[in-house]
Amino acid sequence: MEQEEYILAHGDAEPDYLAKINRKTHLKMINPRMLSGHLQGRVLSMLSKMIQPERILEVGTYTAYSALCLAEGLSAKGKLHTIECDDELEDFIRENIQSSPYQEQIVLHIGDAKKLIHEMDVMFDLVFLDADKREYQVYYDAVFPKLKKGGFMLVDNTLWDGKVLLEVDERDNQTEAIRKFNDYVAADSRVEKLILPLRDGLTLIRKK
Ligand SMILES: C[S@@+](CC[C@H](N)C(=O)[O-])C[C@H]1O[C@@H](n2cnc3c(N)ncnc32)[C@H](O)[C@@H]1O
Repeated sequence: MEQEEYILAHGDAEPDYLAKINRKTHLKMINPRMLSGHLQGRVLSMLSKMIQPERILEVGTYTAYSALCLAEGLSAKGKLHTIECDDELEDFIRENIQSSPYQEQIVLHIGDAKKLIHEMDVMFDLVFLDADKREYQVYYDAVFPKLKKGGFMLVDNTLWDGKVLLEVDERDNQTEAIRKFNDYVAADSRVEKLILPLRDGLTLIRKK
């Protein structure tokens, strides 16, 4: 924790609108831990600026914090599509997007990503997977044909608080699914991959 405070003190602050969304999420939502937060948010922003994507897909919007971080790297004509299945979050998400400079560039889709990804006729340069951990492999397979050659996929929570290292009988089904997903990606010769030990584990994947 001390190290994280040091890192944050020596990097960029959150933009004001993101700090407000962070605070509002902690005040109003039941599971604010799901939000990417200051450190991971700045990492997503920096990675997106390095990639300079025209088209981004995010699976798992929650309160739009990570969507707005990723949007910082969009080119002027770029668009970010984000999918959220919980329709009770819709008004809160739209309010947050409206409070940012990216309201014209973000397209919110409310529904199940397992269905909606197949209906999208868009090729993406950057994809961020951050929805139901038990469904990661399904999202990965659905998104793969829509990821450009040389495009990147970022996958959150792939270390799951270190639980992926636990003995079999201590694991729950989310941990089991993440382990299977990590093994699946590790064996996939169509991609280059690396798990960064950032926060809860962030896998970086590049399609060859
Ligand atoms: C960890 S939160 C996302 C956090 C957000 N990306 C951030 O970093 O601020 C996961 C979100 O995925 C949504 N979700 C879960 N399964 C989904 C699915 N099949 N399709 C779309 N959204 C889903 C949940 O409702 C939840 O809001």
